[in-house]
Amino acid sequence: MQKLEVVGSNRLKGKIKIQGSKNASLPILAATLLSKKKIYLNNLPKVKDIETMLVLLSSLGSKIKRNGNKTIIDNSNQKKTFASYSLVKLMRGSFLVLGPLLAKFGKAKVSSPGGCSIGVRPVGIHLQALSKLGAKIKISQGYVVAEAPNGLKGAKIKFSKISVGATENLIIAACFANGETILSNCAIEPEIKDLVNFLNKIGCNIKWISERSIKILGVKNVLENQYSIMFDRIEAGTYLVAAALTEGNLKIYNVIPHIIKTEIRYLKKIGAKIKIDKNSIHIIGNKNIKNLNIKTAPYPGFPTDLQAQMMVLLCKASKNSLVKENIFENRFMHVAELNRMGAKITIKGNTANIEGNTNFTGAELMATDLRASVSLILAALSAKGKSIINRIYHLDRGYENIEKKLKSVGAKVRRLN
Ligand code: UD1
Repeated sequence: MQKLEVVGSNRLKGKIKIQGSKNASLPILAATLLSKKKIYLNNLPKVKDIETMLVLLSSLGSKIKRNGNKTIIDNSNQKKTFASYSLVKLMRGSFLVLGPLLAKFGKAKVSSPGGCSIGVRPVGIHLQALSKLGAKIKISQGYVVAEAPNGLKGAKIKFSKISVGATENLIIAACFANGETILSNCAIEPEIKDLVNFLNKIGCNIKWISERSIKILGVKNVLENQYSIMFDRIEAGTYLVAAALTEGNLKIYNVIPHIIKTEIRYLKKIGAKIKIDKNSIHIIGNKNIKNLNIKTAPYPGFPTDLQAQMMVLLCKASKNSLVKENIFENRFMHVAELNRMGAKITIKGNTANIEGNTNFTGAELMATDLRASVSLILAALSAKGKSIINRIYHLDRGYENIEKKLKSVGAKVRRLN
């Protein structure tokens, strides 16, 4: 099993190009299933979760060609409607094929994704909403079996809770529903805006009618077209935190800065100096890090996917900080490992109390999920001595060439087999 060795305390200095967004690519790849033609995608990140989605699409009959930054998905012979447990269990994002398969063929059988290490993560909201579009849904032997033999029908649906995945599944499905669908209380993560832009580009008819409401007029077919995926705002935030943590001097590029204005505001509050250009952000880390209280929330709030990374930074603050996790019930798994490196974090319910002035020391560590893994690397980058991080396959699910990128800006990082 591969491990990462990190020798800490180097200042990061230089430039990093930000990858295409994993969380925008997944729903867009699922949405290509609506097509019976070719879709050309640029900027899919080269990470494991995207490979898993491409394997799933191939198993459904899509023909896929990848060449550098370009990917062609050819669905002219895509006919299968069965997504197996063996593929869906690898990644929850796979469940997004349910909406497009059901909309295109009037039936789909997709493994229920189950929970994962960060929480129970049910899919009831997806299923209730698809039922409102006229689908008959049952759960059989761990599979969601959905049918709409006469096609889906437009409806007015208010999500009971803001869910990124349910909003995406429903937007895609409603593109082929007969008539008008209005979805309200939608998630409005930038990746959802990217999905909508993609769908409109291939001929769907979707309009935002208020901040969290969207109107979709069903169409019968979509067109052949090309699309470039947005930047990965979580990768961007992770490198900004890395710079703030190491008193670094880093420019990240290939980004749209206003999309991460909340993160930038918090980084300025802790004392980092930030200069914004059209497509890049320049950050200079400060020796004295100020404390901060943060709570995770749906966009435009602070992202849960950056909570673990920010917590590492707050360990170095001059006073105590609080981090409240409002999205997932079990997203503090990094805390035990950070405490082994010298952090003083205590958890009460969904709130972590972080004592400041931590001097991390290197240790042998275990990664537990994607963002927890990267937070351990961040702590190791600012630690005294050497750390070994085990189970880094989690990291490869979402970060493209992480050790290469970190090395290029002066970190001492090496992959061990
Ligand atoms: C997506 C992101 C993930 C991010 C999360 C929140 C992808 C591939 N994943 O996950 O990285 O951390 O948004 O920003 O884009 N819920 C229910 N019932 C449902 C659906 C969700 O109770 O049917 C709950 C979840 O358990 C969670 C909350 O709603 O507590 C938000 O989940 P959701 O927004 O759906 O997250 P995902 O789409 O799974």
